[in-house]
Amino acid sequence: MVKNIAVIRGDGIGPEIVEQALNVLDKVSKLYGHTFNYTDVDMGGCAIDKYGDPLPEAELKKCVESDSVLLGAVGGDKWNGVPGNMRPEKGLLRLRAGMGVYSNNRPAKIWSQLADASPLKKSIVDEGIDFIIVRELIGGIYFGEHKTEGDTAIDVLTYSEAEIERIGRIGFETARKRRGKLCSVEKSNVLDSSRLWKKVMHRLADEYPDVELSDMLVDNCAMQIVKNPSQFDVIVTENMFGDILSDEASMITGSIGMIPSSSLGKTSCGLYEPIHGSAPDIAGKDVANPIGTILSAAMMLRFSFDMPKEADAVENAVSAYLDAGYRTADIMSEGMTLVGCKKCGELIIGNIRKD
Ligand code: IPM
Ligand code: MG
Repeated sequence: MVKNIAVIRGDGIGPEIVEQALNVLDKVSKLYGHTFNYTDVDMGGCAIDKYGDPLPEAELKKCVESDSVLLGAVGGDKWNGVPGNMRPEKGLLRLRAGMGVYSNNRPAKIWSQLADASPLKKSIVDEGIDFIIVRELIGGIYFGEHKTEGDTAIDVLTYSEAEIERIGRIGFETARKRRGKLCSVEKSNVLDSSRLWKKVMHRLADEYPDVELSDMLVDNCAMQIVKNPSQFDVIVTENMFGDILSDEASMITGSIGMIPSSSLGKTSCGLYEPIHGSAPDIAGKDVANPIGTILSAAMMLRFSFDMPKEADAVENAVSAYLDAGYRTADIMSEGMTLVGCKKCGELIIGNIRKD
C-alpha cells in the first residue's frame, strides 16, 4: 500500500523522537512491501520562528490532505512570552480542530518488564493496569472563549449533546471490544456541562446493553487511579479532565515516555502523537525515550492504515527490546543497560520481523 504521512517534528525532543519513529516505519515498509511518503509540516515554536504563526493554513492543509499525521511534540520556554492565541500549543489545538479529531485514545497499560518503574506499591501493580482513557479532544474549555478584562480572566466551557454523544459512542464501542466496562467521568455535582454529559451517557447506555456503565466524579477518579487502577477498563471523559487524568494514568505505568495516543474523527485520517511534551531540558542530548512516538506510529498502522500485522511487529519489537534489558534514562533501573534515543530506535528496528 502507498500511504502519505504528514510529519510534524516540532520542538524540543520532537525531531529526535520522530526520526526514530520514521526509521521504524521505513523498516516496516521494506519488510511488508509498502511505500510511506513523508511530507514535513512546520508546527509549534519552530513555525512561530519561521512564519510568526504556530500553524499556518498551508501547513494545516498538508495534514488534512494526508492519510495520517505523525507528531513529536511542540512548545518550550522560549515561546512563553508570546500571546496566548499565538503560543505553540495553539498550533496543536488548531491542528486537532482542523482535522476534526474529536476522539483521543490514551492507553494506560503496564509493560510487565517495567513493573518496577511504577511508583505504586507492588501489590497494586500486581492486580493489573490495563485501561484506556477516551478523551474528548476538540470541545470544552479548551475551545471556549478565552479573554482577560482588567483584573479578570474568563475561559468558557461549553458542551452540546451532539458533541457528548459522538465521544460517548466511541467510549461504548471501545469498551465493547474490551472487557465491557465503561466509566464516565465528570463533575456533575458542580457543573451543568457535566450533568448534561451524564444524562447523554445514560441515554446511550440503552443502546449498548452489553456494556456496563458506571459514573465517577473526576476528583474521585484521580484518587481511584492510584488506589485501585485494576477496576478500570475504559474511561470516557471531557477534554480537560482527560488531559489531567491521562498524565496521572501514564505515570502509574512507569513512564510518560512510553505512552502513545491516537486521535480520530469521522475519517481514517488520524493524528498520532506521544502524550508527553517537548522536554526542552533534554532536547538534542540523545537521551529522550522515543518509544511513545514509535508506538504512536504502530497505532497509525493499526487504526488508520488497517495494517494489524505490521503494528504487532512494531509492538513485539518494543517488547523484545525491553526483554533484552535496554532502558533509556527515564525508565532506567539497576542491572539494565542504559541507551540513548538513537540507540533505542536502532535496537527496536533490529527486532522488527515479518511473521
Ligand atoms: C496533551 C497536552 C496538550 C493538551 C497541550 C500541549 C496543549 O498536554 O496532549 O495532553 O493539553 O491537550
Ligand atoms: Mg496533557
